Amino acid sequence: MNYISTEVIEEQKIKITNYLNNIGIDTIRKEIIRGLTSKQKYISSKFFYDEKGSKLFEEITRLPEYYPTRTEKHILKGIAPELMGRFYETDIVELGSGDCSKINILLDSAPKDNLTSINYVPMDVSSSAILKSAENLTKLFPELTINGLVADFIDQLNIIPDNRKRMFCLLGSTIGNFDENIVNRFLNNLRSSMNKGDTFLLGIDLVKPEPILHDAYNDKQGVTAKFNKNILNVINNLIDSNFNINDFEHKAFYDKYKSRIEMHLVANKNIIINSPYHNSDITILKGENVHTENSYKYYFERFNELEEVSGLKINKVFTDSNKWFALILFEK
Ligand code: SAH
Ligand code: TRP
Repeated sequence: MNYISTEVIEEQKIKITNYLNNIGIDTIRKEIIRGLTSKQKYISSKFFYDEKGSKLFEEITRLPEYYPTRTEKHILKGIAPELMGRFYETDIVELGSGDCSKINILLDSAPKDNLTSINYVPMDVSSSAILKSAENLTKLFPELTINGLVADFIDQLNIIPDNRKRMFCLLGSTIGNFDENIVNRFLNNLRSSMNKGDTFLLGIDLVKPEPILHDAYNDKQGVTAKFNKNILNVINNLIDSNFNINDFEHKAFYDKYKSRIEMHLVANKNIIINSPYHNSDITILKGENVHTENSYKYYFERFNELEEVSGLKINKVFTDSNKWFALILFEK
């Protein structure tokens, strides 16, 4: 996550460009301080993902309690032959690509001769995740061209190359981490940047019995707690503040009325935070929550709403036998 310098890394078939500094570090600092000085304090979930955060998230995806990753991968394996059978001369644009471990599954099913014609465009705020996964992917698929974009997919979709047909992907139920107004803004931006014939594959976690949801965000090994607390280290780096992760406890619970998991950091003592980028101290009282994330769980009924707000057409919905997770294929 580098909001300050522009890097371009170029190897034979890999090119990675960092566009985060177009947003500007001042904007980022203001965004963070706005959150920390609100009545209900919050930190945007995009700040989870520095190098350590991305590694911790990968650990989360392998936890026994964290069912979404393995469930989505299982669905992807089933649909990959149909999805990729005729895949040719197309860009795969993966938004929030993380460790890119899901795209392997799709590429495995692409006709070998067509791999050279595919351009993979991972887009993520985590530069370390993009770099590491691009290197791993070229080992598996040396024919593939990779054009990584370190950028924010909510507001920077305009930097995505659009000279060829594209399949956009947003997997891992990342859409669930956004409130309705952001989802609507994102889907609108996406529709405008898609051309007729482009497709969009969206992974969504579904409502299910509460204990399963609860455990997925409260694992026994405490990896999710570590991941949640690490956001404070990221914030310290961005605004030179003095958060100490030991002053906070991880809290995650399911709110069935809002059908979302909420994640918070709860202060275990009174704390005073300061930053050279803010002119007064920020007080956090013992027991006060800093809201770090929501993870919305969807009902099938909401899919039609997504179709309406996006202006895209649902081509097909795929799910697992438990109906725990869904992949929606949209087309424009
Ligand atoms: N797709 C992967 C990773 C999901 S975690 C999977 O399914 O396992 C969410 C990913 O989205 C992280 O890698 C994070 O860095 C990225 N991300 C979150 N908000 C983002 C934003 N606004 N712009 C770009 N990337 C974002
Ligand atoms: N999109 C993922 C989800 O909502 C992100 C995620 C998984 C996550 N586990 C987390 C975010 C724990 C914060 C903390 O499931």
